[in-house]
Amino acid sequence: MNELVVVLDFGGQYSHLIARRVRECGVYCEVLPHTASSQAILEKQPRGIIFTGGPSSVYAADAPLCPPEILDLGIPILGICYGCHLIAHLAGGRVGTAAVGEYGRTSLTVAGGPLFDGVPERSVCWMSHKDYVAVLPPGYRTAAQTDDCPHAAFENTKKGVYAVQFHPEVEHTAYGEQVLRNFLYRICKCDGGWEMGGYVRRTVTALREKIGDKKVLCALSGGVDSMVAAVLAYKAAGKQLTCIFVDHGLLRKEEAEQVARFCTTEFDMHFIRVDARRQFLDKLSGVTEPEAKRKIIGEEFIRVFEAEAKKLGAVSFLVQGTIYPDVIESGVGNAAVIKSHHNVGGLPDVVEFDEILEPLRLLFKDEVRQAGLELGLPEALVWRQPFPGPGLAVRIIGEITEDKLEILREADAIFREELERTGLHRSISQYFAVLTNLRSVGVMGDFRTYDYTVGLRAVTTSDFMTADFSRIPYEVLEKVSGRIVNEVRHVNRIVYDITPKPPATIEWE
Ligand code: XMP
Repeated sequence: MNELVVVLDFGGQYSHLIARRVRECGVYCEVLPHTASSQAILEKQPRGIIFTGGPSSVYAADAPLCPPEILDLGIPILGICYGCHLIAHLAGGRVGTAAVGEYGRTSLTVAGGPLFDGVPERSVCWMSHKDYVAVLPPGYRTAAQTDDCPHAAFENTKKGVYAVQFHPEVEHTAYGEQVLRNFLYRICKCDGGWEMGGYVRRTVTALREKIGDKKVLCALSGGVDSMVAAVLAYKAAGKQLTCIFVDHGLLRKEEAEQVARFCTTEFDMHFIRVDARRQFLDKLSGVTEPEAKRKIIGEEFIRVFEAEAKKLGAVSFLVQGTIYPDVIESGVGNAAVIKSHHNVGGLPDVVEFDEILEPLRLLFKDEVRQAGLELGLPEALVWRQPFPGPGLAVRIIGEITEDKLEILREADAIFREELERTGLHRSISQYFAVLTNLRSVGVMGDFRTYDYTVGLRAVTTSDFMTADFSRIPYEVLEKVSGRIVNEVRHVNRIVYDITPKPPATIEWE
């Protein structure tokens, strides 16, 4: 892309959302940490810069700041929430703290200015702040206000600096998209044109040039990211690409078969399915501790992949499905480890090749899905819900055995089938069954049973960092429960998990 907007991240919970919204407006943007130097920002030649929100107060000792000269680079700037306070602070205004904050839907009155072109005088915006701009910096004028916020938006049109206290990126702000579009197209004079059809074409061409006649390797997990990355590589390199799919036996019902079918019939890929089911089960035998399971699976995966890759001989490139949020977050790295996530990220150390290709490293998840659709991937795969690398191993509490895997696969398939039948799955972010290690007494016919309890988990979330349990209607739960106890052997009790995250996590292990 020859145009770009920089989103300068001050740690706000909506920073990625701002970037996604900018891209939805058809403009390519990149998220940089607020510690980026002016030089680093200038090197990107941005058409505009957006300061995100953040949890801090500009006067706090450890407040995230940016070099003040950014305001004088001649590049249009839009500050949002904390970003708005920061502009006031850097330009000589004053920020105050209100006795009571403004949270949620708020009525906005617009005075005018290019940012509000096409926005009615009164509309609803989304507020989330306690600090507010009390005194405008010299040279700035108010562009909008609310009952409690005298400068809900302000601007210095000569400098091209704009600020809004509200969140245009949140869908509850009725004209938020319009405000962003005005900034991008009227103020920054962007041309637009960021869309996935073009991205796919450019990426395939670039990959083809890069790969030439060399060999390429890709590890498929069954998830949408590695699949889209593989198909892009396949379009560029055809049979020079080998996809290795390690079947660790921990996938859901018929999932491994779907991956194999897709790669070999839809795309005629050079596809190797390694049947490592026995190997993984043996390694996991007797292991009950969740972190130990994850570690074993991660290590075993690499071992199997490595052995298979060695058989292929010299490979020049390894394709990975790294996506943009991973790229942004890899710069942070100081969050506490709640669970050690297993992905194929550990491969580069053990497989010899010249270079890693990450054709999705600029894309957000929704863009990966869009690219998948452009490439002709089936809807079921494109909209596949997230599934953890260690698979069903972290959904079976206690030891993993072939029998337990079979029970869980069947119960999980029924739960998913029923949610999909009702259409409820569209509003649920992740839904699955868990096989607890609890056995209890039941009665079936005239016989006493002593069988397993299956847990059902369904959550809604926007970022998977926090989540709420889904309010599934009782009738649907009743149907699922009835079917599981009748159709799946060794299950006589079903429970529904009604804990949000936090304090629970989404997965049970
Ligand atoms: P938790 O259970 O931590 O899960 O609330 C948050 C999200 O991450 C997924 N998850 C994983 N994904 N490898 C992955 O690729 C893993 O080891 C892993 N563990 C959890 C989980 O399914 C949820 O979407």
